[in-house]
Amino acid sequence: MTTLLGIETSCDETAAAVVVDGWNVRSNVVASQIELHAKYGGVVPEIASRAHIERLDGIVREALSAAGCGREDIDAIAVTHRPGLVGSLLIGVTAAKTLSWAWCKPLVGVNHIEAHACSAAIGLDSPPWPAIALVVSGGHSSLYRVDGFRELTLLGQTTDDAAGEAFDKVGTILNLPFPGGPAIDKLAREGDPSVVAFPRAMLGRDSLDFSFSGIKTAVLYEVNGPGRTSGGLERLSAKRIADIAAGFQAAVVDVLVAKTLRALDRTGLSCVVVGGGVAANGRLRSRLPDACAARGATCRFTPMAYCTDNAAMIAALGHHQFIRGETASLGLDAQAG
Ligand code: KG4
Ligand code: ZN
Repeated sequence: MTTLLGIETSCDETAAAVVVDGWNVRSNVVASQIELHAKYGGVVPEIASRAHIERLDGIVREALSAAGCGREDIDAIAVTHRPGLVGSLLIGVTAAKTLSWAWCKPLVGVNHIEAHACSAAIGLDSPPWPAIALVVSGGHSSLYRVDGFRELTLLGQTTDDAAGEAFDKVGTILNLPFPGGPAIDKLAREGDPSVVAFPRAMLGRDSLDFSFSGIKTAVLYEVNGPGRTSGGLERLSAKRIADIAAGFQAAVVDVLVAKTLRALDRTGLSCVVVGGGVAANGRLRSRLPDACAARGATCRFTPMAYCTDNAAMIAALGHHQFIRGETASLGLDAQAG
């Protein structure tokens, strides 16, 4: 039995978790900073770093106590060291290095996006690989071929705005609470996705890359009028705003589904896993499994608790690195990209 403490501070969630053998989550504590950033309509890096400093110590204690663990039960410490906001990453990396040194435990540096890509395996004692992993978060939209926890091949990625970023920017255009993703998901249920048609950027017949900046601009002009960037929202009815939210969400989901099916065709694989904050989206969760089933493929979404940023996925992937001897020195660096 191998027990890892995971630490995650790459953006605006301060998180710690204890995971046994890479899949059995004993505790998963997440302190969201949404209330601190909401009035600015986006994450403010300095505020995020300060909140991580204030909260991380207590969150690590809480994760250990919820798991019924002391330091003697921990075999290694896994921490997100890239990519993310460098000031935020630094807090987690420094804390993890300090614990590693003070407790004499090995340190493991984990890539946050790879952790999202492998997060669908959490809770499974036998992993779902080989699979196509769709990672859709605030900073990334990527398709990977995953043949094992340490065998990830990037097939396609965002060329501009990530899927979550587009949800957040459209949320701002529609004056919805931050972050836009969950707010649009909720509002879209009251709208009709067929009333306003938004573009589906497929980027050529063979491309597995994503582009969501065009659709964001299309929503801006739909709300304000062609070429105009403000002043239109007040004139729209609540029903019209819900229809726009539904139409936007449907277009994004259509692209995500179409590209994932392309990746299945390209590789001949028959399993899809989905991770990252946008994996919590209701329409994606209903559309993608049906589309996969129609191709004879299975689809596993990451359990909701591990979709948005969390440390369980860091400890889980960290386990597979640890058992392969992929440990880091105290020189481990935080890297933005
Ligand atoms: O993975 P995550 O927590 O952070 C990053 O690594 O970026 O993803 C956050 C993103 C935000 O853009 C948020 O709006 C989006 O995930 N999100 C959603 C939903 N829940 C969170 N997007 C669409 N529908 C949702 N239900
Ligand atoms: Zn993330």
